[in-house]
Amino acid sequence: MPPMPKAPVVYIKDLKAHAGTLVELRGWVYNTRSGGKIRFLILRDGTGYLQCVASASDVPAADFETLGALTQESSVIVTGTPREDKRAPGGVELTLASVHEVQHAEGFPITPKEHSSSFLLDHRHLWLRSKKQHVVLLVRHHTIKAIRDYLNSNGFINLDTPIFTPNACEGTSTLFETDYFGDKAYLTQSGQLYNEATAAAFGKVYCFGPTFRAEKSKTRRHLTEFWMVEPEVAFMRLDELIDLEEDFFCYIIARVLETCGTEIRDVLERDISKLEAVKKPFPRIHYKEAAKFLLEKGVPFEVGGDFGGTDETVLTETQTTPIFVHHYPTQIKAFYMEPDPVEPEYCLSVDMLAPEGYGEVIGGGERTANLDLLERRIQEHNLPRAAYEWYLDLRKYGTFPHSGFGLGVERTVSYLCGLSHLREAIPFPRMLNRLSP
Ligand code: 4AD
Ligand code: MG
Repeated sequence: MPPMPKAPVVYIKDLKAHAGTLVELRGWVYNTRSGGKIRFLILRDGTGYLQCVASASDVPAADFETLGALTQESSVIVTGTPREDKRAPGGVELTLASVHEVQHAEGFPITPKEHSSSFLLDHRHLWLRSKKQHVVLLVRHHTIKAIRDYLNSNGFINLDTPIFTPNACEGTSTLFETDYFGDKAYLTQSGQLYNEATAAAFGKVYCFGPTFRAEKSKTRRHLTEFWMVEPEVAFMRLDELIDLEEDFFCYIIARVLETCGTEIRDVLERDISKLEAVKKPFPRIHYKEAAKFLLEKGVPFEVGGDFGGTDETVLTETQTTPIFVHHYPTQIKAFYMEPDPVEPEYCLSVDMLAPEGYGEVIGGGERTANLDLLERRIQEHNLPRAAYEWYLDLRKYGTFPHSGFGLGVERTVSYLCGLSHLREAIPFPRMLNRLSP
């Protein structure tokens, strides 16, 4: 049993306020070192790293022995007195008064040497403790907080949508099917269709949760389970939607830089001047213009098709901010997209593409408001009408122009952190060949 606290229990992040008084800390051994008669312990407790020191006269003899035998990731409880020290990481050092080992960990699999990415992913439950992963997931937390703060303080009502659903929202090729008491159900690909119902009840809404796509390809931008925030606004048109996305995204970047910019720069070694340079307005480009640009650049792009990863990279490589590509061909977009009133072969859709090769981070647009047209589109896409009756009701009873978008959390975090693969942007990634841990 660990001993009862002998002093106020504090976290490393709060330590400065306790300089000169005895405190207790609980955590894990990050590293140890011996120098003559002095022993060092780098302790991590989830909120930071702390250098702890003891000479033989500072602690009981048995504790000094314990200190000398500590291993990586053993759990410990220590007491000591913090001192401000400019040279120490975090600006404080702890002079130890006691060291108690809660559990002695032998052979922690992740050592400072290089490991393959599959080894690290197999040990994701332990890999989470390492410095870089810790920062990435901290950025994820602050990204999510910024998302919620922005929407909550701009009049959006958070109404979450079901995970089990009878409807396909984003095409039928990436559905995860499951048995629902003898009926067929799918794991949701997007909460959008339900958002359209709640938007008619509340005006400005958002849902925020996990979404699922049976992506059968291995890419660095696809997970099978990812988190998406989806705002939807009644009576909003395409231009206003783009204004909203732009403002929202700039807010997220600013908040993340404010809360963890230093860690992104120092630990992840990402060039944050690239993020600091992201300012409104972002370029807005018609699909036709984007296609022309690609052809001029000599990219073998088939006009009328969707952009691939390379196309998105070429489109953004000369930009310092994300860009908006709007008016994609109606043919290649989802059934619910509102066609342009003048050129119905193009629709009122918009994707936001991030620079530095990160590509699509947001997808959205204006929704078809007309009942007849929507019925036709459902038929053209071979969707089972019965499952969409409720959705058609929204066009029968006070139909209204409306728009919304979905921002992928992992794509955003990946871009903010400068990651080369999306899988590190979520605590436990789910991909084509990975369901564990
Ligand atoms: O462009 P998508 O498919 O749009 C929708 O789902 C709309 N119904 C959203 C809406 O209008 N309410 O997906 C939106 C975003 C993408 O831009 C991307 O950031 C992310 O979701 N995304 C993925 N992220 C990780 N792995 C995947 N397989 C993803 N598929 C989409
Ligand atoms: Mg998309």
